[in-house]
Amino acid sequence: MRAARARAHANIAIAKYWGKADEAANLPAVPSVSVTLEELTTTTTVQFDDSIAMDQLLLDGEATEGKALRRVVALLDRVRERSALSLRARVESSNDFPTASGLASSASAFAALAMAATAAAGLETDPSYVSDLARRSSASAARSVLGGFVRLASAAPGAARLAAEQLAPADHWDLRVVIAVNAEGPKPVGSTDGMLHTQKTSPYYASWVALCPRIAHAVQQAIASRDIAALGQAAEQSAMAMHASAMAAEPSVLYFEPATIACLRTVHELRRGGVAAYATMDAGPHVKVFTLPDFVDEVASRIRATPGVLRTLVSKVGGPATVTLLAEAG
Ligand code: PMV
Repeated sequence: MRAARARAHANIAIAKYWGKADEAANLPAVPSVSVTLEELTTTTTVQFDDSIAMDQLLLDGEATEGKALRRVVALLDRVRERSALSLRARVESSNDFPTASGLASSASAFAALAMAATAAAGLETDPSYVSDLARRSSASAARSVLGGFVRLASAAPGAARLAAEQLAPADHWDLRVVIAVNAEGPKPVGSTDGMLHTQKTSPYYASWVALCPRIAHAVQQAIASRDIAALGQAAEQSAMAMHASAMAAEPSVLYFEPATIACLRTVHELRRGGVAAYATMDAGPHVKVFTLPDFVDEVASRIRATPGVLRTLVSKVGGPATVTLLAEAG
């Protein structure tokens, strides 16, 4: 029996990934840059076990099948192939944030799974291998393996591998992220479906792809020089351009709810009052606001008081995925 437990944090893209260069190989068409979220963690245990005939998945204590299990099996199969291991695995995964909030993150989930499965199979947990493995399941998960401020490059179709790279560790810059939870439950259109549909039908997709390298570059410069205004402007343009490309798809993909727009208005007002606050939205109605320690309490209370916001979370910058070996081959 071999088992390992890994922990990984969610991340929020400052420069967004939206679009695939290669659907089968899950390679991104655009570069992305993210910050790791210390407060949002997934813990996953993988146990290869000769007493079970099929892979099993427990999500927050509930036996889970269907699409979620198939995605887990696909990752485990890659690890089994590389390690020449044939045992089936029991996978137990839990989030330290409410899964039903719609914040459930495939990034932290597949980063933790990739890390735990690699270690449990007796393979070396080289971050570049684990990031590439996680990327095949969810491109944003590649970034959660590294921690701190992270970049995932775009790739040419058919590229053999692609791993994320760390731009700066968590202690490089004490950036804070205020998260507005604006809905309960899973999002109506998942990110893979949303981006493939945008890619196929949106007249704005090509301009989005053309814009991304410039935005990713601006974000990297802003991180290097710890310039919140430059980071925030690039982050907002990235998010709005991504959502605009999705909204222009046929039929439209609209992730915003009234509370999303209300949060954007609050962020604009905060800025007019001299507060460093900049917003971003992923494939859902929640808003994440980038700010600094001096402003974080004011930003959190103003966002919490914004109509439609259910609750807020506040996060610091988090570190890389970590793993502990629980049992060696016996
Ligand atoms: O990693 P995926 O396939 O769930 O896609 C993530 C897409 C966005 O969250 C919208 C943007 C990003 O870069 O994280």
